[in-house]
Amino acid sequence: MKAIEWIGDGSGFLRLLDQTRLPGEVAYRDCREVPDVVAAIRELAVRGAPAIGVAAAYGVVVGAGQGADWQDLGRKAAVALRQSRPTAVNLMWACDRMLRLLDSPDATRDRLLREADLIRAENAEMCRAISLHGAPLMPMSGGVLTHCNTGPLATADFGTALGVIAASWESGARFTVFVDETRPLLQGARLTVWELAQAGIDHSLICDNMAGLLMQQGKVQAVVVGADRIARNGDTANKIGTYSVAVLARYHGIPFYVAAPSTTFDMGIGAGTDIPIEERDPREITHGFGRSTAPAGVRAYNPAFDVTPAGLITAIVTERGVIDPVKEDKIRAVLGGD
Ligand code: MRU
Repeated sequence: MKAIEWIGDGSGFLRLLDQTRLPGEVAYRDCREVPDVVAAIRELAVRGAPAIGVAAAYGVVVGAGQGADWQDLGRKAAVALRQSRPTAVNLMWACDRMLRLLDSPDATRDRLLREADLIRAENAEMCRAISLHGAPLMPMSGGVLTHCNTGPLATADFGTALGVIAASWESGARFTVFVDETRPLLQGARLTVWELAQAGIDHSLICDNMAGLLMQQGKVQAVVVGADRIARNGDTANKIGTYSVAVLARYHGIPFYVAAPSTTFDMGIGAGTDIPIEERDPREITHGFGRSTAPAGVRAYNPAFDVTPAGLITAIVTERGVIDPVKEDKIRAVLGGD
């Protein structure tokens, strides 16, 4: 079952597993025009920082496939897709890479598709390397807590934080994964639980507000989460609720790990305060999954991400190695000159 799939040749289309319908229904969305891809990203049919980068790269191919002036159409597609969500920098990174190719003398429609395929393949490789670097950091038993969804659905392959968990299990560790349900859109309950069940990894679903109690009870030995954008000082934006988990972990002396590819770092941003935080429709809080859960007309505030300061992060696991301590010079040393 593929979360993201290109169907056909350079004038084909993008098929996305519709993550809004999981776990109840396995349904696909075929995107034949750029607005279909933009809508799929905005509506979270495809979501997770690396996955939206891959989907956007294919979205540029969708755009370029629609006329003789394909280069110009491709550029317009990249610009529109770049703006579909504001926080995960992998989206901008992938669109900019496609734009650079469109502007180069090597640009052909076939090359464009090959570039999107390459972004996808590199992404899979990065996730595999992250998983192997991160696995030794996990405990052999006890509990590991995770927030939101960072598995194959969120990355188009393998996963980041969930990849670390899976690789650790593969090497013989036997901890329980405590999965925050991740209000308001329940990526943990709907998607992470679904992926862990398929992988045969022991897990328990908890409400977000239970993490503190579990830590106090000694049930959590490590936390591992993904990231949407990491500033050059290591401050990390991830799904709303991550910061609270990091504060709790620090209080209880539990290591808090972030797992993310180098494409999630935004070295142009000095600190987390400069990371744009997406605000989503308040109805996601008041009318979750079609049912009204608050009095009509109530005002609600719905930021989709928060920022965990670098000082609360024990280490960041990347495909190039583990960043520990989380400081700018160490980030530069591990990531290299990019
Ligand atoms: O709003 P979402 O579902 O796209 O948010 C996803 C997350 O916050 C993930 O933790 C993050 O993108 C890392 S995915 C490997």
